[in-house]
This record gives sequence, C-alpha cells and structure tokens, in this order.
Amino acid sequence: MSNSIQILGPRGNTLAVHAAGEGPTLFLLHGFPLDYRMWQNQLSDLCSRMHVVAVHFRGFGCASLDETQYTLADLAQDVEFLRQHLAANEKIWLAGLSMGGYVAFEYWRQCASHLHGLILSNTKPTGDNDEAKANRRAMAEKALKSGSWAAVEPMFGKLLAEQTVASKPDVAALVKTMMVTPDPKSVAAAQNAMAERRDFTEQLSAIQCPTLVIAGESDPIAPAEDCRKWASQIPNSRFEVIPASGHLSPLENPDAFNQLVLSFVKA
Ligand code: MLT
Repeated sequence: MSNSIQILGPRGNTLAVHAAGEGPTLFLLHGFPLDYRMWQNQLSDLCSRMHVVAVHFRGFGCASLDETQYTLADLAQDVEFLRQHLAANEKIWLAGLSMGGYVAFEYWRQCASHLHGLILSNTKPTGDNDEAKANRRAMAEKALKSGSWAAVEPMFGKLLAEQTVASKPDVAALVKTMMVTPDPKSVAAAQNAMAERRDFTEQLSAIQCPTLVIAGESDPIAPAEDCRKWASQIPNSRFEVIPASGHLSPLENPDAFNQLVLSFVKA
C-alpha cells in the first residue's frame, strides 16, 4: 500500500509523490498524459526491497500546475527538491518512461552526482524537429479549446500493444482513466515543455552511471531498434526488450519490468 505525500515546493507550489517501502530509493517518473498510477505494479511489488517514490509531474496527479509555462529542466529541479526531502539527501536510482525519460536525462545533466543509476524506459534522447514541435503546439491548443480527451485521444491507440488491449482490459481502462484526468492547461503545458526539450544525442557517451535502457517489443513511439542503437552509445549500459509490451512496459508486463529493475539495482 503506497502513501500519498504532498510537499510545499520552493515557490509555494505543491509537489506530490506516492511512496512505499524501505531500502535503496528508486524514483519513478511517469509518461504523458498519464500519472503515478502507471507505476502501480512497481509501487506494490518492488516496495518489499526498495523505497519506491512515484513522482507526480506538475498538473498531473496531486501536484499543482501553478505557472502554465515550465521546462523539463524545471521538472528535474522538482525531482531534486523531492530527493533532498524524501531520500535524506542520499543518492537515488532514477527511472523515467517516455516523457519521464526526457526528465531523467535532464536530471542527469543537472545532478549526475546524485545518481546511483538510470533506467530509461520506452523513451528517446532526441529533441523534436519542427514538424514534431508544431504537432505539440497543435495538441496544446486543441486541449485548451476542446478539452484534454479531445486532444490526447489519438494517442490512446498507440500506447498499448494489441495483446495488452485484448488480454488486459483493466490496464486499458486504467490508461484511459489517466488520460481523461488532467486539466487542459496541464496537457498544454506538458506539450509545450516537451517541444522545447534538449537533445541529448551528443551527450550519451558522457553518461557515466550504470544505465538500463528498456524498450517494449511492440512500441511504435520509441521503437526497440532505435532504443538499441542509442543505448549502445552509453558506456556503462545494458539494453533489454520487454516482450508482450507496447509503450507502457511497466504496466503491460510488470513482472518482466520489475525483474529487470531488481537485477539492475541488485536490491
Ligand atoms: C509519453 O509517453 O510520455 C509521450 O509519448 C512522450 C511524447 O509525447 O514524446
């Protein structure tokens, strides 16, 4: 059973996490347009061996949005504030999925010395080209004009593997629940922040900490072959493909995901 924790941030904002367990601390950063609930199986199953902390990004879950413009570097600062307060200022393991992975790269850029290691799941180091940026701006405008679900609905069919949809209706239902939850302003702010994210392609060889790169066997958003290529540029890295999984590996095949995490962290 995880606990919801809210913390007053440095700007009077509300930061939030769900946390469970004791041991080495593992921070979990969620994808877009989801929330901490995508880590439900990690919170319940890894907590016997680790202190698991699922972060709520600004405007998602119980974290306040406050300013409608932020950068992914700001989200990495939020993670650092939470690390200082919830991990006794100790080093952490940091796992991010997709958007969470983009923030994990940012955290590494700002705070590498506070990391035991990185888990980069269903994500990519690249920035957006002009077309991708324009698509994000369009999604942001659509959310503000027509509501969150109208804007994010086209993503729904891309997040889960066909076999997950067929065999795990509860997972598909949870994903839809998460997608309809955020406020349009939160959807717009996250899209605008992702459009302006840094490109880490040239810095992969500078990542010194142990790094586990995880891809989903059937992920059209971060294809496994692409992940294999960029993972090979990180010196101390391991690359793994999760079977029976689309873009949301920790939710679609939690047993395989959790085994990888435990063997990587050696908890
Ligand atoms: C995610 O899952 O976080 C999104 O697919 C990231 C993105 O839109 O690039």
